[in-house]
Amino acid sequence: MTRSLQVWWVYQSSNKQIDVPLDMITPKFLISMLAMLMLSFSQAWASHGDPSMGRVLAGPCESCHGKGGENKNEGIPNLSGQKFNYLVKQLREMRQSARIRAGEEEYSDTGFRALSRARRSNEVMDELVVKMSDHDIADVSAFYADQKCHADFNVLPVAPPKFEVRCRVCHGNLGIANVLNVPNIAGQDVSYLEAQLKSFQAGKVLEGDGQEKRRAAIMEGQVKNLTDDDIKQVSIYYARLPCGY
Ligand code: HEC
Ligand code: HEC
Repeated sequence: MTRSLQVWWVYQSSNKQIDVPLDMITPKFLISMLAMLMLSFSQAWASHGDPSMGRVLAGPCESCHGKGGENKNEGIPNLSGQKFNYLVKQLREMRQSARIRAGEEEYSDTGFRALSRARRSNEVMDELVVKMSDHDIADVSAFYADQKCHADFNVLPVAPPKFEVRCRVCHGNLGIANVLNVPNIAGQDVSYLEAQLKSFQAGKVLEGDGQEKRRAAIMEGQVKNLTDDDIKQVSIYYARLPCGY
Protein backbone atom coordinates (compact mmCIF):
# COMPACT_ATOMS: atom_id res chain seq x y z
CA MET A 1 0.00 0.00 0.00
CA THR A 2 1.38 3.35 -0.89
CA ARG A 3 2.33 5.36 2.18
CA SER A 4 2.86 8.67 0.57
CA LEU A 5 0.86 11.82 0.22
CA GLN A 6 1.65 14.02 -2.71
CA VAL A 7 1.47 17.65 -1.81
CA TRP A 8 1.00 19.90 -4.80
CA TRP A 9 1.64 23.56 -4.42
CA VAL A 10 -1.07 25.41 -6.25
CA TYR A 11 1.01 28.52 -6.65
CA GLN A 12 3.78 26.68 -8.43
CA SER A 13 3.87 26.91 -12.15
CA SER A 14 6.03 23.81 -12.48
CA ASN A 15 4.88 20.29 -11.72
CA LYS A 16 7.23 19.67 -8.84
CA GLN A 17 5.85 17.46 -6.13
CA ILE A 18 6.87 16.71 -2.59
CA ASP A 19 6.55 13.18 -1.26
CA VAL A 20 5.80 13.00 2.42
CA PRO A 21 5.31 9.68 4.25
CA LEU A 22 1.90 9.51 5.98
CA ASP A 23 3.36 9.07 9.46
CA MET A 24 4.97 12.48 9.15
CA ILE A 25 1.60 14.25 8.80
CA THR A 26 1.59 15.48 12.40
CA PRO A 27 0.04 18.73 13.72
CA LYS A 28 3.50 20.28 13.51
CA PHE A 29 3.75 19.33 9.86
CA LEU A 30 0.35 20.88 9.13
CA ILE A 31 1.38 24.08 10.90
CA SER A 32 4.46 24.21 8.66
CA MET A 33 2.25 23.90 5.61
CA LEU A 34 0.01 26.70 6.83
CA ALA A 35 3.03 28.92 7.49
CA MET A 36 4.23 28.14 3.99
CA LEU A 37 0.93 29.15 2.50
CA MET A 38 1.04 32.47 4.37
CA LEU A 39 4.56 33.04 3.09
CA SER A 40 3.46 32.55 -0.48
CA PHE A 41 0.98 35.42 -0.12
CA SER A 42 3.73 37.77 1.02
CA GLN A 43 5.96 37.10 -1.96
CA ALA A 44 5.10 40.05 -4.10
CA TRP A 45 6.51 42.85 -1.94
CA ALA A 46 10.04 43.17 -3.25
CA SER A 47 10.52 45.27 -6.36
CA HIS A 48 12.85 44.01 -9.04
CA GLY A 49 16.43 45.13 -9.21
CA ASP A 50 18.87 45.64 -12.05
CA PRO A 51 21.51 42.88 -12.19
CA SER A 52 23.95 44.93 -14.28
CA MET A 53 24.00 47.69 -11.64
CA GLY A 54 24.23 44.97 -9.00
CA ARG A 55 27.38 43.54 -10.58
CA VAL A 56 29.22 46.78 -9.80
CA LEU A 57 27.93 46.91 -6.23
CA ALA A 58 29.00 43.28 -5.74
CA GLY A 59 32.68 44.12 -6.32
CA PRO A 60 33.58 44.51 -2.62
CA CYS A 61 31.64 41.36 -1.75
CA GLU A 62 33.82 39.08 -3.86
CA SER A 63 36.67 38.77 -1.36
CA CYS A 64 34.42 36.85 1.01
CA HIS A 65 31.52 35.52 -1.07
CA GLY A 66 33.56 34.56 -4.14
CA LYS A 67 33.14 35.43 -7.79
CA GLY A 68 29.44 35.61 -8.67
CA GLY A 69 28.72 34.73 -5.05
CA GLU A 70 30.01 31.22 -5.43
CA ASN A 71 31.61 30.88 -2.08
CA LYS A 72 34.56 28.66 -1.24
CA ASN A 73 35.31 30.07 2.21
CA GLU A 74 34.35 28.29 5.40
CA GLY A 75 31.53 29.85 7.40
CA ILE A 76 30.46 32.17 4.57
CA PRO A 77 27.27 31.63 2.60
CA ASN A 78 27.03 30.99 -1.10
CA LEU A 79 24.91 33.69 -2.77
CA SER A 80 24.87 32.56 -6.39
CA GLY A 81 21.42 31.57 -7.58
CA GLN A 82 19.92 32.43 -4.19
CA LYS A 83 16.30 33.65 -4.13
CA PHE A 84 15.93 37.37 -4.86
CA ASN A 85 13.27 38.14 -2.22
CA TYR A 86 15.21 36.24 0.40
CA LEU A 87 18.45 38.16 -0.30
CA VAL A 88 16.60 41.49 -0.14
CA LYS A 89 15.06 40.55 3.21
CA GLN A 90 18.40 39.53 4.75
CA LEU A 91 20.23 42.65 3.57
CA ARG A 92 17.48 44.94 4.86
CA GLU A 93 17.51 43.24 8.24
CA MET A 94 21.29 43.56 8.55
CA ARG A 95 21.13 47.21 7.48
CA GLN A 96 18.49 47.85 10.11
CA SER A 97 20.66 46.30 12.82
CA ALA A 98 23.52 48.63 11.90
CA ARG A 99 21.19 51.64 11.94
CA ILE A 100 19.80 50.73 15.33
CA ARG A 101 23.33 50.30 16.66
CA ALA A 102 24.28 53.73 15.29
CA GLY A 103 21.21 55.26 16.95
CA GLU A 104 19.70 56.20 13.57
CA GLU A 105 16.66 54.03 14.03
CA GLU A 106 14.67 53.03 17.09
CA TYR A 107 14.38 49.45 18.14
CA SER A 108 10.79 48.36 17.88
CA ASP A 109 9.33 44.98 18.52
CA THR A 110 5.69 45.52 17.81
CA GLY A 111 3.19 44.65 15.09
CA PHE A 112 4.25 42.37 12.29
CA ARG A 113 7.86 42.45 13.47
CA ALA A 114 6.88 40.96 16.82
CA LEU A 115 4.97 38.20 15.06
CA SER A 116 7.66 37.29 12.56
CA ARG A 117 10.58 38.07 14.90
CA ALA A 118 12.63 38.77 11.79
CA ARG A 119 16.06 40.04 12.77
CA ARG A 120 19.55 39.54 11.56
CA SER A 121 22.86 40.98 12.57
CA ASN A 122 26.45 40.24 11.70
CA GLU A 123 28.99 42.90 12.57
CA VAL A 124 30.90 42.63 9.30
CA MET A 125 27.84 42.48 7.06
CA ASP A 126 25.83 45.14 8.91
CA GLU A 127 28.50 47.78 8.28
CA LEU A 128 28.85 46.79 4.62
CA VAL A 129 25.17 47.34 3.88
CA VAL A 130 24.40 50.27 6.19
CA LYS A 131 24.89 52.84 3.42
CA MET A 132 22.98 50.91 0.79
CA SER A 133 19.66 52.29 -0.47
CA ASP A 134 16.66 50.02 -1.08
CA HIS A 135 17.54 50.38 -4.74
CA ASP A 136 21.14 49.18 -4.20
CA ILE A 137 19.91 46.23 -2.17
CA ALA A 138 17.49 45.24 -4.92
CA ASP A 139 20.22 45.58 -7.58
CA VAL A 140 22.86 43.54 -5.77
CA SER A 141 20.27 40.88 -4.91
CA ALA A 142 19.14 40.72 -8.53
CA PHE A 143 22.76 40.20 -9.58
CA TYR A 144 23.32 37.27 -7.20
CA ALA A 145 19.91 35.71 -7.88
CA ASP A 146 20.82 35.74 -11.58
CA GLN A 147 24.11 33.86 -11.19
CA LYS A 148 24.25 30.17 -11.91
CA CYS A 149 25.60 28.10 -9.07
CA HIS A 150 27.90 25.29 -10.19
CA ALA A 151 27.56 22.06 -8.26
CA ASP A 152 30.58 20.42 -6.74
CA PHE A 153 30.11 16.84 -7.90
CA ASN A 154 33.25 15.67 -6.10
CA VAL A 155 31.44 15.30 -2.79
CA LEU A 156 29.48 12.15 -2.03
CA PRO A 157 25.88 12.64 -0.92
CA VAL A 158 24.77 11.23 2.43
CA ALA A 159 21.34 9.97 3.52
CA PRO A 160 19.13 12.59 5.20
CA PRO A 161 18.01 12.23 8.83
CA LYS A 162 14.37 11.16 9.11
CA PHE A 163 13.03 14.52 10.30
CA GLU A 164 14.34 16.12 7.13
CA VAL A 165 11.02 15.44 5.31
CA ARG A 166 9.69 18.44 7.26
CA CYS A 167 12.32 20.70 5.78
CA ARG A 168 11.36 19.69 2.24
CA VAL A 169 7.94 21.25 2.56
CA CYS A 170 9.59 24.66 2.32
CA HIS A 171 13.14 24.12 1.11
CA GLY A 172 12.19 21.73 -1.71
CA ASN A 173 12.92 18.04 -2.22
CA LEU A 174 16.65 18.59 -2.76
CA GLY A 175 17.29 21.87 -0.97
CA ILE A 176 16.29 24.13 -3.87
CA ALA A 177 13.21 26.00 -2.68
CA ASN A 178 10.23 26.52 -4.96
CA VAL A 179 9.07 29.60 -3.09
CA LEU A 180 10.73 33.00 -3.46
CA ASN A 181 10.97 33.90 0.23
CA VAL A 182 12.55 30.60 1.22
CA PRO A 183 16.32 30.23 0.70
CA ASN A 184 17.97 27.45 -1.26
CA ILE A 185 20.13 25.49 1.15
CA ALA A 186 21.60 22.85 -1.19
CA GLY A 187 25.37 23.01 -1.52
CA GLN A 188 25.62 25.67 1.20
CA ASP A 189 28.77 25.65 3.35
CA VAL A 190 28.37 23.10 6.13
CA SER A 191 29.65 25.21 9.02
CA TYR A 192 27.54 28.16 7.84
CA LEU A 193 24.41 25.95 7.87
CA GLU A 194 25.20 24.64 11.33
CA ALA A 195 25.78 28.14 12.69
CA GLN A 196 22.47 29.44 11.28
CA LEU A 197 20.47 26.54 12.68
CA LYS A 198 22.06 27.10 16.08
CA SER A 199 21.23 30.81 15.90
CA PHE A 200 17.58 30.00 15.19
CA GLN A 201 17.63 27.55 18.06
CA ALA A 202 19.09 30.06 20.50
CA GLY A 203 16.47 32.60 19.32
CA LYS A 204 18.04 35.20 21.58
CA VAL A 205 17.04 38.82 21.88
CA LEU A 206 20.08 40.60 23.20
CA GLU A 207 19.04 43.49 25.42
CA GLY A 208 16.33 44.65 23.05
CA ASP A 209 18.73 46.79 21.03
CA GLY A 210 18.34 45.06 17.70
CA GLN A 211 21.62 43.21 17.91
CA GLU A 212 20.26 39.69 17.84
CA LYS A 213 22.33 37.40 15.73
CA ARG A 214 19.41 35.99 13.82
CA ARG A 215 15.74 35.49 14.43
CA ALA A 216 12.98 34.12 12.21
CA ALA A 217 9.88 32.69 13.87
CA ILE A 218 9.23 30.29 11.02
CA MET A 219 12.59 28.55 11.50
CA GLU A 220 12.73 28.76 15.29
CA GLY A 221 9.80 26.34 15.53
CA GLN A 222 11.48 23.97 13.10
CA VAL A 223 14.73 23.58 15.02
CA LYS A 224 13.49 23.82 18.59
CA ASN A 225 13.70 20.11 19.37
CA LEU A 226 16.74 19.18 17.30
CA THR A 227 19.85 17.88 19.06
CA ASP A 228 23.36 19.10 18.19
CA ASP A 229 23.85 15.84 16.33
CA ASP A 230 20.60 16.31 14.33
CA ILE A 231 21.82 19.76 13.32
CA LYS A 232 25.17 18.37 12.26
CA GLN A 233 23.62 15.55 10.21
CA VAL A 234 21.09 17.72 8.41
CA SER A 235 23.77 20.34 7.66
CA ILE A 236 26.07 17.72 6.15
CA TYR A 237 23.16 16.35 4.12
CA TYR A 238 22.28 19.73 2.58
CA ALA A 239 25.89 20.85 2.14
CA ARG A 240 26.49 17.84 -0.10
CA LEU A 241 23.51 18.35 -2.40
CA PRO A 242 24.20 20.12 -5.69
CA CYS A 243 23.49 23.88 -5.54
CA GLY A 244 22.93 23.89 -9.29
CA TYR A 245 23.75 21.91 -12.39
C1 HEC B 1 34.49 40.29 5.17
C2 HEC B 1 33.69 39.25 4.59
C3 HEC B 1 32.38 39.64 3.91
C4 HEC B 1 32.19 40.59 2.92
C5 HEC B 1 33.22 41.50 2.28
C6 HEC B 1 30.78 40.50 2.57
N1 HEC B 1 30.15 39.54 3.31
FE1 HEC B 1 28.18 38.99 3.17
N2 HEC B 1 28.43 37.67 4.69
C7 HEC B 1 29.61 37.45 5.37
C8 HEC B 1 29.37 36.52 6.46
C9 HEC B 1 30.39 36.01 7.45
C10 HEC B 1 27.99 36.19 6.40
C11 HEC B 1 27.22 35.27 7.35
C12 HEC B 1 26.63 36.10 8.44
C13 HEC B 1 25.93 35.27 9.48
O1 HEC B 1 26.50 34.33 9.99
O2 HEC B 1 24.75 35.58 9.74
C14 HEC B 1 27.43 36.94 5.28
C15 HEC B 1 26.09 36.87 4.89
C16 HEC B 1 25.57 37.50 3.79
C17 HEC B 1 24.22 37.33 3.30
C18 HEC B 1 23.16 36.40 3.86
C19 HEC B 1 23.16 35.12 3.02
C20 HEC B 1 22.20 34.04 3.45
O3 HEC B 1 22.25 32.95 2.88
O4 HEC B 1 21.41 34.28 4.35
C21 HEC B 1 24.08 38.14 2.22
C22 HEC B 1 22.84 38.31 1.35
C23 HEC B 1 25.35 38.82 2.01
N3 HEC B 1 26.25 38.40 2.99
C24 HEC B 1 25.60 39.75 1.01
C25 HEC B 1 26.79 40.46 0.89
C26 HEC B 1 26.98 41.57 -0.02
C27 HEC B 1 25.92 42.07 -1.00
C28 HEC B 1 28.26 42.02 0.15
C29 HEC B 1 28.95 43.18 -0.54
C30 HEC B 1 28.29 44.46 -0.41
C31 HEC B 1 28.87 41.19 1.18
N4 HEC B 1 27.94 40.28 1.61
C32 HEC B 1 30.17 41.31 1.62
C33 HEC B 1 30.85 38.00 5.08
C34 HEC B 1 31.08 38.99 4.16
C1 HEC C 1 7.54 26.44 7.06
C2 HEC C 1 8.63 26.58 6.12
C3 HEC C 1 10.00 26.08 6.54
C4 HEC C 1 10.33 24.83 7.01
C5 HEC C 1 9.40 23.64 7.27
C6 HEC C 1 11.76 24.85 7.21
N1 HEC C 1 12.29 26.06 6.84
FE1 HEC C 1 14.23 26.63 6.91
N2 HEC C 1 13.73 28.52 6.36
C7 HEC C 1 12.46 28.94 6.06
C8 HEC C 1 12.48 30.37 5.81
C9 HEC C 1 11.29 31.24 5.42
C10 HEC C 1 13.82 30.79 6.01
C11 HEC C 1 14.36 32.23 5.92
C12 HEC C 1 14.33 32.84 7.29
C13 HEC C 1 14.72 34.30 7.28
O1 HEC C 1 14.12 35.05 6.52
O2 HEC C 1 15.65 34.67 8.01
C14 HEC C 1 14.58 29.59 6.35
C15 HEC C 1 15.95 29.59 6.59
C16 HEC C 1 16.70 28.45 6.78
C17 HEC C 1 18.13 28.40 6.85
C18 HEC C 1 19.09 29.58 6.69
C19 HEC C 1 19.57 29.62 5.26
C20 HEC C 1 20.59 30.71 4.97
O3 HEC C 1 20.98 30.86 3.80
O4 HEC C 1 21.01 31.40 5.88
C21 HEC C 1 18.49 27.09 7.06
C22 HEC C 1 19.89 26.54 7.19
C23 HEC C 1 17.26 26.32 7.12
N3 HEC C 1 16.19 27.18 6.93
C24 HEC C 1 17.21 24.95 7.32
C25 HEC C 1 16.03 24.23 7.55
C26 HEC C 1 15.98 22.87 8.02
C27 HEC C 1 17.19 22.00 8.29
C28 HEC C 1 14.65 22.54 8.15
C29 HEC C 1 14.05 21.25 8.67
C30 HEC C 1 14.40 20.89 10.03
C31 HEC C 1 13.87 23.72 7.75
N4 HEC C 1 14.75 24.72 7.40
C32 HEC C 1 12.49 23.78 7.70
C33 HEC C 1 11.33 28.15 5.98
C34 HEC C 1 11.24 26.85 6.43
